[in-house]
Order: sequence, then structure tokens, then C-alpha cells
Amino acid sequence: MTGAVLSTHGLVARYGDFQALYGIDFQIGQGEAVALIGANGAGKSTFLRAVMGLLPVASDMVRMGGQPIGGTPADRMVQRGVAIVPEGRRLFTGMSVQDNLRVAVDQADRLGRRGGWSLSRLHRLFPILNEKARTPVQSLSGGQQQMVSIGRALLCQPTVLLCDEISLGLAPKVIREIYAALPEIRAQGTSVVLVEQDVGLAQSASDRLYCLLEGRVTLTGPSGSVTRDQISQAYFGGSHAVV
Ligand SMILES: Nc1ncnc2c1ncn2[C@@H]1O[C@H](COP(=O)(O)OP(=O)(O)O)[C@@H](O)[C@H]1O
Ligand SMILES: [Mg+2]
Repeated sequence: MTGAVLSTHGLVARYGDFQALYGIDFQIGQGEAVALIGANGAGKSTFLRAVMGLLPVASDMVRMGGQPIGGTPADRMVQRGVAIVPEGRRLFTGMSVQDNLRVAVDQADRLGRRGGWSLSRLHRLFPILNEKARTPVQSLSGGQQQMVSIGRALLCQPTVLLCDEISLGLAPKVIREIYAALPEIRAQGTSVVLVEQDVGLAQSASDRLYCLLEGRVTLTGPSGSVTRDQISQAYFGGSHAVV
């Protein structure tokens, strides 16, 4: 990897007295896809939130191009090129697909972010978003809503895209459709962090992976070369056997 686009260094995060992350060292290179796997409650969403400036963290715990940016407010993170597809999608219900996407276009404009993503390009990636442009988002299927959420993040012209369990609750066919968009996103030079509970999917869609267990990294390596046994050890801790 030629220099990390984004990295964390001993990243810790707390919710009040509860410590959720214990010193996470992480890095991602340009155009790389890195999966973050781990059981429910391992700290995956917390990691993304901490990186995104949605939780208080020390500035040198998160770096972009080597520069300390930890704790930068989320809006400024978007300005610096980090966008999140949050857990549970968080769309503006009562608004159409088009209006949800326009919020992102306006945000990017306001923040002065330029890039290769336009509404028409997004419509080529996910044609259904064009067909359903005037449909209120709450009338869409889960997969279509996820496409809106991804679209919204892409229209912020990210250099790093953080995806929080984008496959959750979706049918296999829809998951394939969504994951099929990744190569084009990465072809822009965008780096993608994929938080996934589906280990097989995470492995096949990423270059490298990190496994979290109770707020600590228990495994990291090239996705193609870590074994199933290594993953199950890392996922559940020493006392468990195979997944
Ligand atoms: N808002 C919160 N307040 C207190 N504890 C939280 C909060 N969000 C998450 N946690 C706790 O932090 C830990 C990590 O949660 P989370 O990052 O959501 O895990 P994951 O995304 O891997 O399922 C869990 O023990 C969870 O209960
Ligand atoms: Mg989560």
C-alpha cells in the first residue's frame, strides 16, 4: 500500500463509563476495500462513528494523509472526503428519492466538494433510483432504500466511503446487486470500509480485513489468505471452534 488515505492509531472510544474500543490500529489505502468484521456488539459501528467524528476522540488517533483529524465534526469530515452509509440507512422519510439525493448534492456544494458523482451517473449505477425518483423513500423496498443511502454518500464525493452493514436484512439477489456496484465506486479511487456480519461476503468483497472482538482487533490480513479457522478464532475468541 502506498501511504494510507485514512488510518487510526490506538483509537479508543467510550460511551460514558463504558469503553467500546481499545486501541484500534487501522489503515486503508487509495481505492482499497477493507472489511471490518466481528460479532454483534464488537464495536464495528462505534469504530465508524469514531472515525466520522460522531464520537469524541483525540485528534492524533485518526489521520488522513498523515494529518491528525480525530474528533473533527462530521460535517467537516464530509468536507475532507469521508462519507458514511450509516447503520439503518437514516433516510429522510416523507421525502422522495430525488429529494433525499438532492440533500447530499446541496451538502457537497455547500462544502465545496467536487468529484465524479452526479445524479445521472448514480442513475446508471442504480437505475431503480431514476425510476423511483419521485417515490417517497418509505415506499421503497429495503434494498432500494439502501441504494438511496449509498447514493447519498456517493454524492458527497467521498475519497473514503464507510459502509455499515449494507447487506443487513436484504435478499441475496439484492445484496449481489449492491455489491456489484463496488468495483465502479473503487475505480474512482474511492476507498471503501465495509462493515459486515456476513464473513463470506466481507472476505470476497475486500482486499484486506480486520476482525474485532470486544473492542480489539483480533485478526488482520489479506482477505484471500486468512483461513476460516483464523477467522472463527478471531470472531469468537479462543474458546470457540469453527463458525
Ligand atoms: N449509544 C451507546 N451507548 C452506550 N453503549 C453503546 C452505544 N452504542 C453502542 N454501545 C455499546 O458499544 C459496544 C459496541 O457497539 P457497536 O459499535 O454498535 O457494535 P457492532 O456495530 O459491532 O455491533 C456494544 O457493547 C454496545 O452495547
Ligand atoms: Mg453495528
